[in-house]
Amino acid sequence: MTNINTDTLIGNSPELGAVLRAARLVAMTDAPVLIQGESGTGKELLAARVHRDSPRRGGPLITVNCAALPENLAESLLYGHRKGAFTGAVADHIGYIPQAAGGTLFLDEVGELPLAIQAKLLRFLESGECQPVGHGSATHVDVRIIAATNRDLAAEVAAGRFRQDLFYRLNVVPLCLPPLRTRGDDIALLLHHHAEQLARRYGLTAPRYSRAALRQLHAYDWPGNVRELRNLCERLVILCGGREITPENLPAEMRPMPQHATHNASFHLPPEGVRLDELEVTLIRQALTQTAGNRSRAARLLGLTRDTLLYRLKKYAID
Ligand SMILES: Nc1ncnc2c1ncn2[C@@H]1O[C@H](COP(=O)(O)OP(=O)(O)OP(=O)(O)O)[C@@H](O)[C@H]1O
Ligand SMILES: [Mg+2]
Repeated sequence: MTNINTDTLIGNSPELGAVLRAARLVAMTDAPVLIQGESGTGKELLAARVHRDSPRRGGPLITVNCAALPENLAESLLYGHRKGAFTGAVADHIGYIPQAAGGTLFLDEVGELPLAIQAKLLRFLESGECQPVGHGSATHVDVRIIAATNRDLAAEVAAGRFRQDLFYRLNVVPLCLPPLRTRGDDIALLLHHHAEQLARRYGLTAPRYSRAALRQLHAYDWPGNVRELRNLCERLVILCGGREITPENLPAEMRPMPQHATHNASFHLPPEGVRLDELEVTLIRQALTQTAGNRSRAARLLGLTRDTLLYRLKKYAID
């Protein structure tokens, strides 16, 4: 079980707004919710928000970290056990499911659940009945289920790693959190929010961001999403508190590529001329190959912003 972070979800982008609207609607019901999204996109925050916006807000929110559920103890941890039910069961234990009665059970990292435990969990989801290990009878437990994963669960089902019946049980209302790189102006908003919040925590002054630094942070692809951004803010508050952040203050992977070919004009127009659009397509393809398809890095290799590259990919119908 982990502590739920009760911070608010910051962001004005339409991509996030659509998810938050759906979350508010589903919060009013008891329907199971499946939150999907890359690592660090705010799945745990969203789960807490759905619980807080629901009529169950006065009840408990119990988080089960499915990646850390040992197979041999899973049943007893989920359902509980009676004293003496097995060697080592020295006292009664209340499982996560009965602990969540009247509230919400949050199954975090549900995609990591071993198949054997998936079957045990499904038993409860199908019947709503909870029978602690070593206990004669089952009782009905009223809980709302929210699950989260950074895996593509449909693909996990197709690969035979996730039970299809469990997937259907969980995936009643899917909420998909967008990656940070698609959230446009939310990047600046989050940089300021987290810098201010962390500066208060450390008793320091938040740094300011120069336009050039903001441009770089915008062009970066944020594989670790908001968690990575928050970690950067923490570092910058500590190392550059009260100062202006310039691109030189940013970690190497976020800095612009050095300008090579463009400055020394190494491209010569052959006398027979070129087809400029074909040349452009060739260079874009080479940049994508060199960066294994990473569009932000490809854009930097070409001296373009990510948005401009995306526009050209669309224009030339390059996948
Ligand atoms: N929209 C947001 N506004 C403010 N902070 C956010 C937002 N989204 C995420 N965060 C912050 O980013 C960090 C990661 O969020 P969270 O733990 O909810 O992500 P996650 O999707 O559960 O990640 P993982 O898949 O790695 O478990 C937390 O510090 C959280 O406060
Ligand atoms: Mg999480």
